[in-house]
Amino acid sequence: FEGRKWNMWRYKEFLPVDESKKVSLNEGGTPFIKCNNLSKDLKVDLYVKVEGSNPTGSFKDRGMSVGVTKALEFNVDTVGCASTGNTSASLAAYAARAGLRCIVFLPAGKVALGKLAQAMFHGAQVLSIKDNFDKALEIVTKFALGGYLYLLNSVNPFRLEGQKTIAFEILEELNWESPDHIILPVGNAGNISAIWKGIKEFYESDFIDEKPCMIGIQAEGASPIVEAVKKQKLDIKPVKNPETVATAIRIGSPVNYPKALRAIYESNGTALSVSDEEILKAQRLLAKKEGIGVEPASAASIAGLIKLIDDGYLDHGERVVCVLTGHLLKDPKIAINACKKPLEVEPDFNLLKKIIG
Ligand code: F0G
Repeated sequence: FEGRKWNMWRYKEFLPVDESKKVSLNEGGTPFIKCNNLSKDLKVDLYVKVEGSNPTGSFKDRGMSVGVTKALEFNVDTVGCASTGNTSASLAAYAARAGLRCIVFLPAGKVALGKLAQAMFHGAQVLSIKDNFDKALEIVTKFALGGYLYLLNSVNPFRLEGQKTIAFEILEELNWESPDHIILPVGNAGNISAIWKGIKEFYESDFIDEKPCMIGIQAEGASPIVEAVKKQKLDIKPVKNPETVATAIRIGSPVNYPKALRAIYESNGTALSVSDEEILKAQRLLAKKEGIGVEPASAASIAGLIKLIDDGYLDHGERVVCVLTGHLLKDPKIAINACKKPLEVEPDFNLLKKIIG
C-alpha cells in the first residue's frame, strides 16, 4: 500500500467496488493516537482510532462510501435507512454527493442535535418515528422489501466492507503487529462484525501473525449482546425498551447479533456493559486528559476499558486499541450540560484580571 493516499481506498483491492467509480469524501485515514496520559494512569499501552475525524464525523462514512457506490452500480434512485443519528447523517451526505433521493427514519426525540442537523441540511427526507430505533428499522425494512428504497443499514453487507478498513488501518499503523485487544461500542452490532472481518482478511493474507480479542461494550440499559455472552449463548433476548444517555447505541434488538457473537467467540473476546454515569465520566476523562472529544457512545469503549482493568481482565502493559466512533460535536447538549455556564463579563481589563487570578 506504500505511496498511496492515507484514506480507506488505499486498500481498494479488498473492497468490492470499482474504485474509479467511488462516491467518496476522502473517508478513512483517521488519526491513530497513542494516549500517553491514560496509558500511564491505567498501566496499559492505549491507542485510540479517532473515527470522529471522518467527513461527517463518524465511522459510518466508510460504509456509506462503499454502500452508495453500490447503490449507483445497481441503478437505484432512492436510498434509505433507520438510524439513531450517525447513519442518517452519513447517508444524507453521500446520497447528496451521488445525486440520489434519501429518506431516513429516526426515533422521535432521541437523535442528538448535530446528527439531526446533518441529515436535514444535506437534504434527506427526515421522518421522526414515534417509537425507538428497533421499530424504525422494522418499518424501513418493509419499505426496502417493497422496492421503495435501497436499504443502507448495516444489514447491507457493503456497509461492513467499507467499515472493515478500520481494522486494516489499525494493523498498518501498528506495523503489522496485532494489538492484544480491540474495544468498541456496540449498538446494531455491525461495526464489531466489520472490524473482525477486516482482521481475518489481513490474517489470511499473512499480513499479521496473531489476531486481537474483540471486546464489545454496551450501555447497561441496552445490552442484549452482553447478556448473551454472559451465558455463552448464540442468540439474544431483545431488550424491549432500551434506554441510555448514549443515544447512538440505544438499541434493543441488534440485527447483526449473529455476526457479532461470532466475532466475540472466535476471537476469545468478551462483552460488557457500562452505566451512563461511567460513560459520561470516561467522555470527560478523554477530553481532559488527552484532548480528544467524542460523543457518549464512543466513550463507552474507554469506560469499558477502565472496568476491564478494575476487574483484572486486562494485564498491565497489554496493547489495547479503543475505537472512538463519533465526534464530540454530534451531541453538543451533553457537552454543554456537563459544564458550568460561561461567565458573562464586561470588557474591563482590571475586572478580568481579578477573575483570572
Ligand atoms: N458509536 C456510534 C457513534 C454510533 O453511531 C453507532 C451506531 C455505534 C457506535 C454502534 O455501531 O451499530 O455498528 O454496533 N450507530 C447507528 C446509527 C445505529 O444509526 O447511527 P454498530
